[in-house]
This record gives sequence, C-alpha cells and structure tokens, in this order.
Amino acid sequence: MAKTAVQFACTECGYSAGRWFGKCPGCDTFGSLVEESPTSPVAAPAPRPLLRLVDVVSDEARRIPTGVPELDRVLGGGLVAASLVLVGGEPGVGKSTLLLMALRSMSTRGRVLLISGEESVAQVNLRAARLGGPEAIEILAETELDAVCATLERERPDVCVIDSVQTLYAQGLGSAPGSVSQVREAAGRLLRVAKENGVATILVGHVTKDGAVAGPRVLEHLVDCVLQFEGDRFHEHRVLRAVKNRFGSTNEIGVFEMTGEGLVGVPNPSELFGRTEPGEIGAAVACVLEGTRPILLEIQSLVAPTDLAMPRRVATGVDPKRLAMIVAVCSRHAGLALGAADVFVNVAGGLRIDEPGADLAIALAIASAARGAPTREGVVAFGEVGLTGRLRVAAQSERRLEECEKLGVVLAVAPKGTPSRSSLRVAESETLRDALRAGLVGSAVAAPSQNPRK
Ligand SMILES: Nc1ncnc2c1ncn2[C@@H]1O[C@H](COP(=O)(O)OP(=O)(O)OP(=O)(O)O)[C@@H](O)[C@H]1O
Ligand SMILES: [Mg+2]
Repeated sequence: MAKTAVQFACTECGYSAGRWFGKCPGCDTFGSLVEESPTSPVAAPAPRPLLRLVDVVSDEARRIPTGVPELDRVLGGGLVAASLVLVGGEPGVGKSTLLLMALRSMSTRGRVLLISGEESVAQVNLRAARLGGPEAIEILAETELDAVCATLERERPDVCVIDSVQTLYAQGLGSAPGSVSQVREAAGRLLRVAKENGVATILVGHVTKDGAVAGPRVLEHLVDCVLQFEGDRFHEHRVLRAVKNRFGSTNEIGVFEMTGEGLVGVPNPSELFGRTEPGEIGAAVACVLEGTRPILLEIQSLVAPTDLAMPRRVATGVDPKRLAMIVAVCSRHAGLALGAADVFVNVAGGLRIDEPGADLAIALAIASAARGAPTREGVVAFGEVGLTGRLRVAAQSERRLEECEKLGVVLAVAPKGTPSRSSLRVAESETLRDALRAGLVGSAVAAPSQNPRK
C-alpha cells in the first residue's frame, strides 16, 4: 500500500501543509501547527440517482419559538427544526446562560437535551435554579463524540445544545480536543445526525482573541446559522448578532442585560442608548440600522490638543478607517482644525457600528467637541459622508425617521432628498458644512438656511 503523507494543520486558522512550520504561514501564529492523522482511503462510491427540483416536496421550514424574544428575532423567527446553529462568544459573556434560558422555555413544548462537556451536571443545575428552575431539561455530561451521536440517534430530542463543540473528542483521530480536525469532525458528524434525525442542534463555540470562532473557521461554512454573542464582562449589556443565517436576514441584533436572574431582553434599545444630556459637548445621537432594526445610539467624541507628530484617531465601536476618513473630510470640507488634535470616538453601551449611515452623527459629535458647542436638543443625525464633503441619503431613511418619531425626536439632520415626516422637522443638508450648522447650537447660520420642512 502506498505511504500516506502526514499533514500538519494550524489550530488557529485551519491552514494545512505537508511539513511542520514553527510559524503558521496562514495566520502567522507561532507553534500552532499540529500533526493530523491521515485518513484511510475509501473505495470509489457508486453514482447516485438525480432529482428534479420541481419534484421535491418540501414543507415550510418549521420553527420552534425559543421563548427568548431577542433570540427569536436574531434567528429570524425561531429555531428551524433540524438546523445546526453555532453560537460563538468570548469566555464568560453568557452563552451557557442564554441557551439554558432558551432550553427552559422550549422544554415546555418538546424534548430538549443539554450535552455539557464543560460543566458538571451539578453546576448546570445550580445555574438552572438561579434562572428559575430546571424544568424538564434532560442533561448528559459527555465529551466522547460517538457516544453523543449515538445518544442523539436513539433519543431524538427536538432540540439539543452542545456546550461546547471544542470539548468533543472523536477517538479515531489522533489530535487533542479543540484542534481543527477534531472540531471539523464533530461538526460534520453532528450535522448529519441533526438532519437525519430532525434534531435542531445548537453548538457553543469559543472565540479566539481575534474574534473568530476558535480555530475552525471551517465550522462557519458547515452550519446553517452563526450567531455571535458580544459585549464585555464589565458592561452589563450584551449584543447577539447573526453573522450568517440560511433561514433569515443577517445583521439582526438582539440586546440583553445581564442580571443575577439571567439575561433580560432589552426590547427597545433606543430608549437606553439613544439619550444624551442636554447641553453636553461632544455628544450626538445617530440613528443606525442593524439589519431591519433602526436604533438610536449616542456617539461621544473628545478632541484634545496633542504634541504628537501623528495625532491619534482612536475609535471604539467604529471602524478606525471610517473614522480617519470622517476626520479628514471634517478638516478639509467643514473647516474644523483637527490637524494638531487627538480625536477619540466612542459608541455608547459598548455597541459596534458597521454602516455608513452613522457617518454624519460621528462628524457632528467631533464638530461639537472641536468647537465646544453642544448639539441642538432632541436632534438626531444620519447620512453618509462622501469624500467631497457632500452627503448621501442613508438606506431605509423612512424606517429611521419612524424610530426617531417614536422616541420624540424633534429635529433630524439628514442629507438632501430624505423623505419628510409630518411630526418631525427634517433639516435637509446638501453638504457636511450645512449639516453641522443645522445640528450645532450657536452656529453662525442657523436652521432656517437649511430650508427645514415643517
Ligand atoms: N450569580 C450571578 N449573578 C449575576 N451574574 C452572574 C452570576 N453568575 C454568573 N453571572 C454572569 O454570567 C456570566 C457567565 O455566564 P456563562 O457561564 O453563561 O458564560 P459563558 O459564555 O457560557 O462562559 P464560558 O465560556 O466560560 O462557558 C458571568 O460573566 C457573569 O456576568
Ligand atoms: Mg459556558
């Protein structure tokens, strides 16, 4: 028999090579390559019969409500039967708590099973008691993959949570639990078991320091849905985000607050994050769109003189490249002298903004800090800032204005062409300079020059 080549795979990024390297060529991590056992060759399979798509009879995807409204929203209306969902998050962010809460409420409607590889049965029971009682959750403390799959095939629960996929161990493979080959094998086998036996399976995965679900990015391709649980341990707010969803929209978010009794959903995050103190310098409110959900968020900025040759632009919750661009446009087209100043920008509540619709509010916060003038009371800004200093209408402006209206905003500073609303004044601005004049108190030219609509 021909000798099979030994393969080395990186535990961080999945890069594989025929020889060992001290530093992974894929992700530059040191000492992360481990030897993978070669798989034995299999006989060539026989060809399979084909089907026409029109002949396939399919039911509407059956959804199981999780009983946690914010989780349902992120999943696109509930957990789809026989789907495989990956929940990633940093240690201690509350993954086990969230899923135990979901299992508790799902246990009243069907059979649910928790496979715990990290915590003992007694530990899980303590947490369940703290969250309000263990209900009818069935539990198995097991890390051996074959045993887990065999149990699932025999018991066929409606929902199964595996906490965590990194603890599962397939005996046939030589590598340690948590390595790329182990996690890939576990996810592949569980995918087959989930689909064949109609078990909706939720895998918990740890994330690395870079934010990727540990090691195996390969997992993200295998599963139907990838949810990221974000937030830091020092803030009580957590955000659940859909990164990939085969059954619903991505970029949906759910907001939670961590309390002693577990995670409490925050159905209206705008109330919490979208308020500024009247007259505060360096604060502005943005209306950003997260998936289909408009949220009002406070953006804070500090502009401080610096002796550094290269002034700092520090962003928390905003893309640093986007911040550098907004600072440059503010200097060049809105007359703000930022060349000898450090600029810091922060998004309230530890949230992260990924969309260009927040540009205008970031610029407004920076301008407020730079000029020492507060933003007008009850003002919200949204719109994309272009490199020429001209503003572009933000996507789904009507939705954003609806949210502003609900929260009693009196003036929205937005690009020209934004649809108007009856109960809210929209100061349409063509350029960034106009928008800053409309949004800041005590600017030389006040709102009337912007032709605000009543
Ligand atoms: N008695 C308590 N009162 C309030 N909050 C608590 C209590 N016990 C735990 N927590 C919160 O729950 C968090 C841990 O939650 P959980 O164990 O669900 O996280 P995890 O993401 O599963 O962590 P790991 O990655 O270690 O499994 C803690 O960081 C803490 O904020
Ligand atoms: Mg846990």
